[in-house]
Amino acid sequence: MTVLDFKNIFVENLESQIDQNELNELFFWLIEHYCKIDKISYILNQNYKLKIQEKEDLQNAIELLKKETPIQYIIGSTEFKGINFCVNSNVLIPRPETEELVNWILEDNPKNKKILDIGTGSGCIAISLSKSLEDCFFEAWDVCKEAISVAKRNSKKHKTKITFKLKDIRNDIFYDNKFDIIVSNPPYVTHIDKQNMSKKVLNFEPHIALFVPQNEPLFYYKKILKFSERHLKSKGIIYLEINENLSKDVKELLYNNEFHDIKLRKDFRQKNRMIKAVKK
Ligand SMILES: C[S@@+](CC[C@H](N)C(=O)[O-])C[C@H]1O[C@@H](n2cnc3c(N)ncnc32)[C@H](O)[C@@H]1O
Repeated sequence: MTVLDFKNIFVENLESQIDQNELNELFFWLIEHYCKIDKISYILNQNYKLKIQEKEDLQNAIELLKKETPIQYIIGSTEFKGINFCVNSNVLIPRPETEELVNWILEDNPKNKKILDIGTGSGCIAISLSKSLEDCFFEAWDVCKEAISVAKRNSKKHKTKITFKLKDIRNDIFYDNKFDIIVSNPPYVTHIDKQNMSKKVLNFEPHIALFVPQNEPLFYYKKILKFSERHLKSKGIIYLEINENLSKDVKELLYNNEFHDIKLRKDFRQKNRMIKAVKK
């Protein structure tokens, strides 16, 4: 079977489910990953004969895509801030709006600071920050041990020095360290919001990374602020990713917890998706 034959089979199998542009993107993503064929090589060599293993992997990918498995879980990686991250079903697939949260911190250019990432997942926030902020010290926590092991793998791959810890922010944590900066993209989806979520997210991404308990969207923000009371230094800064519908509530919560200079920022879709505040 040539790579062109595969393209025809790929389109035939998936065109009823996936639109043309996305199909094209997925096709190139797969042949690049499994056969190391980029777009130009494909155009120049559509008659490339697939090896047995390549054919098997590509056919298997069709079956997984039919079940709506996210491509990132199929190939086991994704790009975040131009860096390649390993992902699996234990970690959320990093989102572009989270890149914007990271950009905000990079713009502020902290120097020599202790930075904590709560709910690190794949480690995308801490690792991408750490690659640019070389004189800062990083810790990254998650409640899920499988997520911590993915984050550690990514940190090793990118040669970053981060202390990863298995910690549950729901508990009262008494810790010797105080931080200058806390960053988090916590779970904030309620079970009521489930109806509006795509099957791709709902059936494949880890529920522990998405959902709050008891339909309380502010649950994790409250826990993070409680932890910040003792463990974020005075004049320390907090950066949080939020759902656009929560901007007013999170702002109020920060205000009531002795934070000032509260700033909201819109993402590339012009939605309020991140907030920054300074502790008094
Ligand atoms: C929305 S995901 C964010 C992952 C990653 N930081 C990112 O931006 O792609 C939330 C993360 O919080 C973690 N988490 C959920 N409950 C937690 C808890 N009680 N304590 C610490 N981390 C928790 C999840 O395992 C998940 O990795």
